[in-house]
Amino acid sequence: MAAQVSPVKQGKPGVSRAARLSVAPMMDWTDRHCRYLHRLLSSRALLYTEMVTAPALVRGGATHLLSFNAEEHPVALQLGGSDPAELAEAARMGAAAGYDEINLNVGCPSDRVQSGTFGAVLMKDPGLVAECCAAMIEASPVEVTVKCRIGVDDQDPEVVLPEFIARVSAAGVQRFAIHARKAWLQGLSPKQNRDVPPLDYNLALRMKGLFPALHLSVNGGIGSLDEAEAFLEQGFDGVMIGRVAYHSPTEILAQADRRIFGAGEDSDPVQVALAMMPYAERHIASGGKLAQVTRHMLGLFTGRPGARNWRRVLSEQAHRPGVGPELIEEALSSILDAQAA
Ligand SMILES: Cc1cc2nc3c(=O)[nH]c(=O)nc-3n(C[C@H](O)[C@H](O)[C@H](O)COP(=O)(O)O)c2cc1C
Repeated sequence: MAAQVSPVKQGKPGVSRAARLSVAPMMDWTDRHCRYLHRLLSSRALLYTEMVTAPALVRGGATHLLSFNAEEHPVALQLGGSDPAELAEAARMGAAAGYDEINLNVGCPSDRVQSGTFGAVLMKDPGLVAECCAAMIEASPVEVTVKCRIGVDDQDPEVVLPEFIARVSAAGVQRFAIHARKAWLQGLSPKQNRDVPPLDYNLALRMKGLFPALHLSVNGGIGSLDEAEAFLEQGFDGVMIGRVAYHSPTEILAQADRRIFGAGEDSDPVQVALAMMPYAERHIASGGKLAQVTRHMLGLFTGRPGARNWRRVLSEQAHRPGVGPELIEEALSSILDAQAA
């Protein structure tokens, strides 16, 4: 079932190693400011962009969507689309822009995405996904990976998931992130589709038994670094974390280099906050707004003394005209006071 028929391009080894822990692609959340923050917290975890659609890049010329900070590596570009030639061109553009990996979204159930035949609906057409991936692999010098669900609607995941992985890996994809629940394309909002369909981690893990040579990451509902370690011990090659990494980035990323990758120091969120000040300054100097950066920092001290005040100062004041990066230092005082108390 898992026979690989096409020549496989090897990805950069460092990138699949980084996929031991990744922060999931999240629209409107994992933009470049968010990724810069996450990179300060962990020098090793793999970071994903928000999804960028192939039509926006190829037909819309929206190449600004490809820009990122050099510090973000290793960083993967997630693409949405279902036209092999267009995806191939988008993958070529992504690789030329310097991304370390190109990922195809086969998991997102939002209406907007469905209307263009993107995302989770493609679980129904593994042949087309395989064709898209083959074209992307041909066009891209960097590794092409897939993020998928275990099925959609009334599909039987026990049947659909192994068949999907077999066909797509036969096209040359060696690394998958499996969001271990179905998407229901009718009747649930995208948000409900991240919580309501039950998780089936065991099915995802059985894929590792069926396809031992593939690199498989588990995604969905993972809430701590302890849980991530447990999944790795069970046999997954990687763990992908979305919402908790966004809302509590320190909890997931500050100890990740040492605990998940076995090298490096834990990061200190106070130092990370301070290191965001020159970044925010550069962003403002280039015409951006402070709040575009600080909105991703609200969860930096989640669960720690002073966190509520930190959030309040940033969320209430960062939008005000003329406010600069010194607001970060001001907000930090509640954390430092609480630490000193
Ligand atoms: C705000 C938000 C936006 C998302 N956007 C994307 C996306 O662009 N592409 C994608 O593949 N998944 C997207 N997802 C799904 C996440 O990547 C992830 O699969 C999902 O949240 C489950 O993981 P978690 O339980 O760790 O959050 C999004 C999730 C959230 C919360």
